[in-house]
Amino acid sequence: MQEILIHFDEGVTTLTFNRVDKKNAFTAAMYAACADALDLARDDAAVRVVVLQGHPTVFSAGNDIQEFLNTPADRSNAPVFRFLKSLAAFPKPIIAAVCGPAVGIGTTMLFHCDLVYAGDNAAFSMPFVNLGLCPEAGSSLLVPAMMGYHRAAEALLLGEPFMAEAALEVGLVNRIVPPMEANGVAQLQARKLASKPLGSLVETKRLLKKAHLPQVLERIDEEAQSFGRLLHAPAAQESLTAFVEKRKPDFSKVH
Ligand code: COA
Repeated sequence: MQEILIHFDEGVTTLTFNRVDKKNAFTAAMYAACADALDLARDDAAVRVVVLQGHPTVFSAGNDIQEFLNTPADRSNAPVFRFLKSLAAFPKPIIAAVCGPAVGIGTTMLFHCDLVYAGDNAAFSMPFVNLGLCPEAGSSLLVPAMMGYHRAAEALLLGEPFMAEAALEVGLVNRIVPPMEANGVAQLQARKLASKPLGSLVETKRLLKKAHLPQVLERIDEEAQSFGRLLHAPAAQESLTAFVEKRKPDFSKVH
């Protein structure tokens, strides 16, 4: 079974996360497949819009935790960074359909999308601190820019889930729909965009993103350095091991 399904139709490339038994947790192979698909979509003139979608019950539980535990100290060439940079700099419109849990990169990838449609069961969270980690994907820059500092601090320091209504209020989501309709709504909007002049779409997106893009790419690198260091520190090792062992982490003996 392929864990990233790629489908092209009428100018729209759709990437479906398809590892539902593991809540669509992302492995290196899945990031690589998404990065490859985005690079192809960028260079193929027939592709006008990309849709990212999961399952009506789950968007993504974030990075695969077992893989985090096996990650080598130098992860600068990890496929996740190729995916993030392709996503951040993607020149054509990207639409996401999000239902159920969207954890870690499941939420932070949305800050790089142009339109986001959420099922009313969507639950967004960025629990990096709870895992002994720090923000990634440029989220330390993009979350406060979108939500304002205090809401960003709450989302990133406490790491508690926030639901579709709250995401709509802060501007992360364009519309809330029944979960079974989310992918269909994203496809409908994608078809609308795909019928428009591609040159105008690309130029408009370039102008919309121009103020932030260089800083976003720089921040992705800076966050990656800190994240990589923290990933190998005792707090993260304890929280990740605790998840695998299905127990609560004990931070009493670590910083
Ligand atoms: N990495 C690896 N496996 C994961 C995973 C992850 N990020 N998230 C879920 N899974 C696996 C579980 O281990 C479980 O596997 P098993 O059936 O072999 O035991 C399966 O997916 C189902 O997960 P479960 O926790 O039972 O589902 P749930 O509906 O109770 O909860 C979540 C869903 C997403 C809330 C919960 O799985 C979760 O919190 N996952 C971790 C999220 C996370 O911290 N990600 C890292 C962000 S940086």
